[in-house]
Parts: sequence; structure tokens; C-alpha cells
Amino acid sequence: MSEEAPTQQQQPPEQEKKADEPPPAAPDAPQESCSSPAAEEKTFPCRALVLTGYGGYDKVKLQVKALSQPQLQAGEVLVRVKACGLNFAELLCRQGLYELLPAPPVTMGMECSGIIEAVGEEVTDRKVGDRVITLGKSGMWQELVVVSADRTFPMPEQMSFEEGAALPVNYLTAYMMLFEMASVRPGKSVLIHMAAGGVGIAVTQLCQTVQDVTVFGTASASKHETIAQGGVTHPIDYRTKDYVEEIRKISPKGVDIVLDPLGGSDTQKGFSLLKPLGTLIVFGAANCVTGQKKNLLAMAKTWYNQLSLTTLKLMQSNKAVCGFHLGYISDEQLISRTMFTLLELYSQGKIKPRIDSCYHFEEVADAMRRMHERQNIGKVILLPEPKKVEEKPKSNPEPEENVEKTEAAVDEKKEEAKEEVKAEKD
Ligand SMILES: NC(=O)c1ccc[n+]([C@@H]2O[C@H](COP(=O)([O-])OP(=O)(O)OC[C@H]3O[C@@H](n4cnc5c(N)ncnc54)[C@H](OP(=O)(O)O)[C@@H]3O)[C@@H](O)[C@H]2O)c1
Repeated sequence: MSEEAPTQQQQPPEQEKKADEPPPAAPDAPQESCSSPAAEEKTFPCRALVLTGYGGYDKVKLQVKALSQPQLQAGEVLVRVKACGLNFAELLCRQGLYELLPAPPVTMGMECSGIIEAVGEEVTDRKVGDRVITLGKSGMWQELVVVSADRTFPMPEQMSFEEGAALPVNYLTAYMMLFEMASVRPGKSVLIHMAAGGVGIAVTQLCQTVQDVTVFGTASASKHETIAQGGVTHPIDYRTKDYVEEIRKISPKGVDIVLDPLGGSDTQKGFSLLKPLGTLIVFGAANCVTGQKKNLLAMAKTWYNQLSLTTLKLMQSNKAVCGFHLGYISDEQLISRTMFTLLELYSQGKIKPRIDSCYHFEEVADAMRRMHERQNIGKVILLPEPKKVEEKPKSNPEPEENVEKTEAAVDEKKEEAKEEVKAEKD
């Protein structure tokens, strides 16, 4: 099923784990080289979000690892993480539906930004103090990460750590689909679902770098004003309207490119909406996810309704059907090249990640809930820095439509708590 980024992340060596303890203040990590014998004996605490098993929010735990002094290999750097991105894929990871994540216990996280604290031998183009972005299949939701220097990308001066953490997965995915696979060109039309989410906003912004591209975007109604301002030409409320009919009313012949992160019957609808010579790219299966816990019925329904075609039918339809999965892209140069292109677009002011909200590591359940409950407009960010007691989560105002849903969710949580107490008594 779903997505994301290549090469396994190396973790600094870990000596012990203490689950859910308040973290001690982290002492300074090594500044230059990591190999002096005295330094080898030193350990320091490192906060990390660890998936401890598959299931609901409670399976992701904040742990404080006691790390030994990282021994950097040649070509590696040590990064102190300042901000991490939350991706839809991590909701799938938590439910055990993401095949690229190693089995729990495992530190989660596919992207982050931070400051280089130490460099290994043979690293010539990065130095201590550089602000960088990095990505991997897992292991990024941690205060300190060891990565290959080639996998770090210097952040433009004006870019915040939150923006840096929001960029890699969403924008690499959007860029590669639009420009490498679908070859979007002036005058074309694109349909993107989940248009107010991380990838959706990246797709919209990148479409605007090409002249006269029409963007159809499905999203909850409360988000339409924001996504229209962001460049979606025709926002469509998929919850109350048949988006196929809505698109046909505006463009009877359909669209040139459909980007489908939903799967199941939506892939069939996407295929039907394509103009001749159009391209459908399937890149997710969000329809499998209906809430906190795995939903076997939704999975079965999505699987049962998936698009099924013979090559003869495909030939006769004059349409292209593609699949995209960033996690299976092993061409490091392609990733690097695209990252540098994206950073250049950022510096030119052509793209800018929209940050929906920031949560501290200890609030990871709330961050995931925000995405499950479809409240986010843009990227949800996780911050390793401990939460100060009085601080409230920083987020854009709640979309009105979801307020009721949130209240319903609170009620639901109360019910769940009651059930748990009852079960314990029994
Ligand atoms: N293949 C790849 O390499 C790759 C890489 C990145 C992402 N993806 C896929 O792209 C999609 C978007 O990912 P993202 O990280 O950018 O997330 P996101 O779009 O920020 O996801 C949350 C938003 O999606 C909408 N949504 C639609 N169906 C949903 C569902 N079943 N559960 C929760 N929200 C749902 C909601 O907005 P509305 O209510 O407004 O619709 C929600 O606010 C996902 O399917 C993901 O798996 C694939």
C-alpha cells in the first residue's frame, strides 16, 4: 500500500530505553569529531517516538533513549533534529499497513530538518552548524539522527525548520508525479484528491509553475476558500457532491491528469474522467483508513473496487495508468536532483509549504488525530523540543465544519475511557 522515502536510516547507538518518562535536559552533543576514547564512554538522552506495536494512538510512545556517543562512519553527519513531518503513511504504519517500515519496536518518521552537530571523515561539503533537511524510510522522529551527508540538503536562509520538515515527502511526490510521470504542460488540467493536505497543496503550487494549468481539487467544504486562494481553480466538496458530475459540468471532456491517493472506486472514477491520452497516477489507498484502528471492511471494499483492466482495454481506451511510490525510488541521484530543484523553487518564491499545525513529541496522538479527523490544511509538524507546561498546540483555526466532529470525537473518547474503566473493573 502507500508511500514514502528510500534508504534505511541509521540510528545512533542506543543503550537502554525508558518508556514515557519526562525527558531530562539533553546535554550538549559532540561538536566536531565523535571518536575520542573519553567521548566514547559518555551517554546522553535522546527523545524518540517509537512505534511499539500496531493499533491506535497509544502504540506510538515517547521514549528517552540513552545513546552512546555516535561513531560516525566516513561520509556521515550527526543532525540535531528541530522539526519532523507527519505523513499519512505514518497513520498506515501505526495500523500495520505500511510494508516498508521495519517491525516494531521502531522509531518512526520519514523526514526532518535540523542542525549538523558533527561530521564524519570525508565529509567535505557539510559542516557543523549547517541547517539541513533529510529523509529516510524511518527513524526521523528522534532528537538526533545519523545520516549520510549525501542525504542532507542545505536549507535556504529564509526557510523555517517547520517548512524544511514539510518539504521532502510531499513535494518530491508531487514533483515526480507531475513532471516525471505525467509530464504536465501548459493548458492541461489536473484532478487532485485530498487537495488541502500536504501532497495536495504541493501539487497545486507546482501546477502554478506551469502556464494555464487548471486544477480540480476535492476537499472538505470548510477548506475551499484556503485552497482556492492557494491556486485550486475548482474546489469540489466530495462529501456532499458527486465530484465526477461536478467536473463534467465544468469540463465535459474530463481532465488530462488524475492524481489518485484514495484507491478503490475512486480509481475507477478517475480513469473514467480521463480525456483521451490522459494519465492516471495511483499513489495511495487512503480509502482503507477510516479512523484510529485498522478497518478490515474498508480495506476489503477498497481492494474489491479497485480498477481492473486488460491491456487490450487499456489500448482501446488510449489512456495511461501509472503507479507512484516514493519509498520504492532507489535512484539517489534522482532524489537529490529533485530536492535541489525544489529548494531552488522555494528560494524563487514559487513554492512554500503550508504549515497546518505543530505538536510537540508528547502530543503525537493529537497530531495523528488531527489528520485522521480530516482537520488539517497543509502539513502537520512534530517538534522534538519538550513542551513547556503552559504552551498550547500552535495551529491554524479549526475548519468550522469539523468542530462538531471534534466534539463527537471527544464524546467518543469519553465513551472509550468509560469502557476501559468498566473492562478493568470486570
Ligand atoms: N505514493 C507515495 O509516494 C506517496 C507519498 C506521499 C503521500 N502519499 C499519499 O498521498 C495522500 C496524502 O498524503 P498526505 O501525507 O499529504 O496527507 P494529507 O493529505 O495531509 O491527509 C489528510 C487529509 O486528507 C483528506 N482525507 C481523505 N481521505 C482521508 C482518510 N481516509 N482519512 C483521513 N483523511 C483523509 C482529509 O482532508 P479532506 O477532508 O479535505 O479531504 C485530511 O485532512 C495519502 O493517501 C498518502 O498515502 C503517497
